[in-house]
Amino acid sequence: MPNHAKSGSARSRVPWRNPLLRSLGLLLLFGGALAAQSMHAVGNIFKPLATPAEEVSDLSILTLAICATIFVVVGGLMAYAVIRFGYRHGDSAAEPPQVYGSRQVEIAWTVVPILIVFVLTMATARVDSAVQDHRMPADALKITVIGHQWWWEFRYTDLNIVTANEIHVPLSSIAKPRLTELTLKSADVAHGFWVPQLAGKTDVIPGRTNHMWIDPKELGIYLGNCSEYCGTQHARMELRVIVDSDEDFAKWVANQQTPSAKAAEGSTDISSAFTASACIACHTVGGTRARGKMGPDLTHLMSRETIAAMETPNNAENLREWIKDPQKMKPGNKMPAVKISDAQLDRMVAYLTTLQ
Ligand code: CUA
Repeated sequence: MPNHAKSGSARSRVPWRNPLLRSLGLLLLFGGALAAQSMHAVGNIFKPLATPAEEVSDLSILTLAICATIFVVVGGLMAYAVIRFGYRHGDSAAEPPQVYGSRQVEIAWTVVPILIVFVLTMATARVDSAVQDHRMPADALKITVIGHQWWWEFRYTDLNIVTANEIHVPLSSIAKPRLTELTLKSADVAHGFWVPQLAGKTDVIPGRTNHMWIDPKELGIYLGNCSEYCGTQHARMELRVIVDSDEDFAKWVANQQTPSAKAAEGSTDISSAFTASACIACHTVGGTRARGKMGPDLTHLMSRETIAAMETPNNAENLREWIKDPQKMKPGNKMPAVKISDAQLDRMVAYLTTLQ
């Protein structure tokens, strides 16, 4: 949880009393912490880094510009009228001359809004079709995204890779476009897939398949979140899109496709701590008897930077705390605490940390 930790400790050092200034300060510190890690902030919808997000951003700027112009014109005229024609001391108390109806004015304030709405409708339709009807090239990377309460399952259709909460995708450039096509499904309730700097929100609906695509134009980690209220831990249904160079992506794929070391060994002492536990009813570790499908696939658990679909670093300490009492770290989540001794827990964590 490096970002949260940084802004958290910053909070205690900021001496300002004014809540607005304090929020602004925190925002700057938060932004600084993010920049330092070359991480793309969750909320930065005005810095799109993929075509679908750019299209949406351009449309929102056009809409904002039109609305701002209307605000300035209407507000300006009102302010002018109030200041110029307002009651002044010594004015006569009699009513001013009353004006009823003006054909020109009526036509103007009917036609102008219709034109504005027409322009916005056409611009929206253009962006909608440009994003949704975009033809996928044959070499597009295909990932099926399955929303669960409260984590994300990712299946690389053609690569035989299953992972959770973090996806790796290749960098796209004008010289070498690399598109990633996402097929969105839900295992339970409605969720929303949203990585603000890559694309607009897309609903993830039970019994329905939705599609979207991304072509990230900068290397780095893009943070996203579920954007549709889906229950207790909706806010902790976070995800990361890690955009790799071609070389790094190929390395990642090769590692994911190789059985993780200890899993291949099968029946070592520490692996039995896991493979003989109740955990295997919900989790899969490729090459072992653990083939559960309810929870995240753990075959390459340690290749992920975070756990539990939260910004919690994936390390032995946090894994131990998580397994000991999942409800403490993420109340309401579907993972039960397994009743095991501390010694067993140590062996289980030792095993899990071998799953590179
Ligand atoms: Cu899933 Cu909100």
